[in-house]
Amino acid sequence: MTTTQFQSAITVTGLRKSFADHVVLDGLDLDVPRGTVFSLLGANGAGKTTTVKILSTLISADAGAARVAGHDLTAEADAVRAAIGVTGQFSAVDNLLTGEENLLLMADLHHLSHREGRRRAARLLDQFDLVEAGRKPASTYSGGMRRRLDLAMTLVGSPQVIFLDEPTTGLDPRSRRGMWRIVRDLVADGVTIFLTTQYLEEADELADRIAVLDHGRLVAEGTADELKRRIPGGHIRLRFADPRGLDAALPLLGQVFRDNDALTLRVPSDGGVRSLKTLLDRLDHRGIEVAELSVHTPDLDDVFLALTGNPDDQKVTIR
Ligand SMILES: Nc1ncnc2c1ncn2[C@@H]1O[C@H](COP(=O)(O)OP(=O)(O)OP(=O)(O)O)[C@@H](O)[C@H]1O
Ligand SMILES: [Mg+2]
Repeated sequence: MTTTQFQSAITVTGLRKSFADHVVLDGLDLDVPRGTVFSLLGANGAGKTTTVKILSTLISADAGAARVAGHDLTAEADAVRAAIGVTGQFSAVDNLLTGEENLLLMADLHHLSHREGRRRAARLLDQFDLVEAGRKPASTYSGGMRRRLDLAMTLVGSPQVIFLDEPTTGLDPRSRRGMWRIVRDLVADGVTIFLTTQYLEEADELADRIAVLDHGRLVAEGTADELKRRIPGGHIRLRFADPRGLDAALPLLGQVFRDNDALTLRVPSDGGVRSLKTLLDRLDHRGIEVAELSVHTPDLDDVFLALTGNPDDQKVTIR
């Protein structure tokens, strides 16, 4: 085993999966270092849940190889299962049981002793702010409480690698931040997180590395900042008090987008302080007044829209 493999929580090479003649994964390669958060992004139906299901041994791939937590996915499936936790896109909570009973059931499945099971359930209820709710049936929980209980159930087995499939879908901003804090704490303890999300802000906040899945392949991979730098879209928006100001500014600024009705110009820019100063100096020199200025740097939403979607759309070429 090489050092890289040893430090990797997940390595994937050439993973393929089709449902009938529908190719969902068309040769996926991934490497997730231990103790990091890796986020897989993709439109609805891109194959995120399919990837999570394969890597957590719930379904098998058609081709390719993967190691999870140091074990071969197919040859050592039991060892993989023992080392991972999965919080699926759809809840695993049993509605008829209380929160505490759900946790104790998980403890049983992990063959923990009665005492150890109770101890761990109590600690998790406390950690996830579910002490009161723990005595009530899960059918009475709100969506956010159910999400927390779901993740708590995943943690009963103290997994080294956790798959979170859209963990905060439907949560309010406060609950979402609560979930982010829990994820950060887990990573600080050395756990590796494989996260899928539709909230790009979430990937931006949490992920060490992000990959974008589109039409069965990864079309981009890197840190949030690397991905943002790869796409155009940064600009400075200038609004003028009258058309005269706009007309006077136009010849000074090179290639710009002009909106006569809003009296604005959009100047492509990296948004840096230096380019901003150059621009303002140039206008100032000619005595042109700007009524309002805003700087737009590409966010992950821009990256996502540039990289995924309609196959007929013109794509940004990367790599
Ligand atoms: N058991 C199955 N049988 C047939 N097709 C399937 C099956 N499971 C998934 N698919 C198809 O595979 C594709 C990928 O589905 P998947 O659930 O992995 O997408 P996803 O990226 O998780 O989407 P979402 O963001 O909506 O959760 C979809 O077109 C889906 O219809
Ligand atoms: Mg899904």
